[in-house]
Amino acid sequence: MKYKNAIITGASSGIGRAVALSLSKRCESLALIARSKDKLAAVQAEIEELSGTEGPSIRTYSLDVCDEVEVVSAIDEYVSEFGGVHILFNNAGIYFQGLQGVTSDQLDQMLRVNILGAFHVLQAVIPHLVPEESYVFHLSSRSGKIARPNSGAYAASKFGFTGLSEAYYQDLVPTGIKLTSLCPSFIRTPMTQGFAFPQEDMIDVTDITRTVDYLLDLSSEAVIKEIVIECRKSL
Ligand SMILES: NC(=O)c1ccc[n+]([C@@H]2O[C@H](COP(=O)([O-])OP(=O)(O)OC[C@H]3O[C@@H](n4cnc5c(N)ncnc54)[C@H](OP(=O)(O)O)[C@@H]3O)[C@@H](O)[C@H]2O)c1
Repeated sequence: MKYKNAIITGASSGIGRAVALSLSKRCESLALIARSKDKLAAVQAEIEELSGTEGPSIRTYSLDVCDEVEVVSAIDEYVSEFGGVHILFNNAGIYFQGLQGVTSDQLDQMLRVNILGAFHVLQAVIPHLVPEESYVFHLSSRSGKIARPNSGAYAASKFGFTGLSEAYYQDLVPTGIKLTSLCPSFIRTPMTQGFAFPQEDMIDVTDITRTVDYLLDLSSEAVIKEIVIECRKSL
């Protein structure tokens, strides 16, 4: 199947950046979304340098996914130029460590970005997904399946996101749109710099890009609801 147009949130860093680079090899256009205009421009330049004249058309949208009006306007602008959306990589997210030590403002921010922001993006994209030709990826977390000590507030936001994703799975799959929740453990990205768990024992972002490629290459009959990617040294 040809996945022509892709939207990636959280594309300025870490997993989103890696997936944007990887999808640039199979898509004709990419919409890169995050707050940092400069970092988005750097990712765009990186893709353009790697792919040269063969590369996809790239549009960047510097916005906060918590702002529903901005999200809808960016998606509408992208769709009016390129048409239907074939891949949504709904990935933007934030992390604060702790449970008792987390402030209510920090929990509020995580709930807003990790659940509400992703909800805004998916809701805005759904009318533009193409039945039988579209794939939605939700970057949840292993912490959205099993709560870790000292990450309880983040786990609450990701459990919520996993639940929301499962509900959307039930709604979308019968309409011919695939959805998979990716639930990885520690991945080596800017988010996990400074974590006590050793960087060298973390999962590399290429394991996410390979998983995305594998899922996109399955037959149209096969759909996988959820993939939990464990870190071998931290079960
Ligand atoms: N790294 C891990 O171990 C791990 C494991 C499981 C799940 N995850 C999840 O994977 C996703 C990506 O994380 P990462 O590790 O790649 O972290 P990262 O390097 O910190 O990237 C997070 C991305 O989200 C964007 N973002 C954050 N808040 C945003 C907002 N309000 N509006 C728009 N964009 C926003 C950031 O861009 P700006 O700052 O420019 O907005 C950045 O592009 C997150 O949902 C995270 O919870 C990560």
